[in-house]
Amino acid sequence: MPDTVLDSGTILETEGLTKEFLGFVAVGDVSLKVRRGSIHGLIGPNGAGKTTCFNLLTKFLQPSRGTIRFDGRDITRMKPAEVARLGLVRSFQISAVFPHLSVLENVRVALQRQRGGSFDFWRSDSLLRRYDDRAMELLEDVGLIGFTHRPAGELPYGRKRALEIATTLALEPVMMLLDEPTAGMTAEDVDRIVNLVRRVATGRTVLMVEHNLKVVEGLCDTITVLTRGRILAEGDYASVSRNPEVIAAYLGTDPSIAGASAHG
Ligand SMILES: Nc1ncnc2c1ncn2[C@@H]1O[C@H](COP(=O)(O)OP(=O)(O)OP(=O)(O)O)[C@@H](O)[C@H]1O
Ligand SMILES: [Mg+2]
Repeated sequence: MPDTVLDSGTILETEGLTKEFLGFVAVGDVSLKVRRGSIHGLIGPNGAGKTTCFNLLTKFLQPSRGTIRFDGRDITRMKPAEVARLGLVRSFQISAVFPHLSVLENVRVALQRQRGGSFDFWRSDSLLRRYDDRAMELLEDVGLIGFTHRPAGELPYGRKRALEIATTLALEPVMMLLDEPTAGMTAEDVDRIVNLVRRVATGRTVLMVEHNLKVVEGLCDTITVLTRGRILAEGDYASVSRNPEVIAAYLGTDPSIAGASAHG
């Protein structure tokens, strides 16, 4: 059946997702499909409803209307912790960095949490060593091996965000939601995070909100453009950046998309 084939390629699907705040429609009738294994960008001007969308997907907000399916399950009524257990995990929110703990300890705590470790577990040396092995792997993955024993609070901003990604990865997400992973970063940090996102996207799905359109262009397979809570356009970067409605929505807010129209 063609429907089944299509559905097996979709990991996250919303239908008519709507969130109203006292009658104000922050997210309106959003039907979104995210392909398994893809890096999907969610972009749009300030106030478009991107973060509200993320809050709905991770159940930090209850939708006013609509449904959310993740990995074949209806998660519309689930609690945030249940959704996280299913593997839909949001970075930069669930995973707080403890500033006084070392980089390694932060990842260890995240691992312990994931395994539901109790004090008894802590006393088992072999388990502790297993946590450490996995923690070192994760630090390697995010390029933080050189910072292992530094207090997390002393890390430069870009490295702190890499640590947040490591603690999120400790939860073994099937799908990661990243809200503006490069916000406030230097160009060098942006490059590093782009490479990191590409690396962590291997074998999982990523949905990311990102204002830096160069990052979106470089990373995202599919892009959904939101304006005023509604989907304005969807497609790959080339088609979305050429879309006159998208250009109009961005005009005055982002010269790079407006510029794309002049050349193409
Ligand atoms: N709890 C709330 N109560 C009332 N209005 C809200 C609430 N949360 C968000 N909004 C409104 O909903 C709209 C969408 O906000 P949201 O934060 O989702 O936008 P965004 O696309 O993430 O913007 P930005 O790019 O600035 O992060 C905004 O007009 C915002 O003021
Ligand atoms: Mg936002």
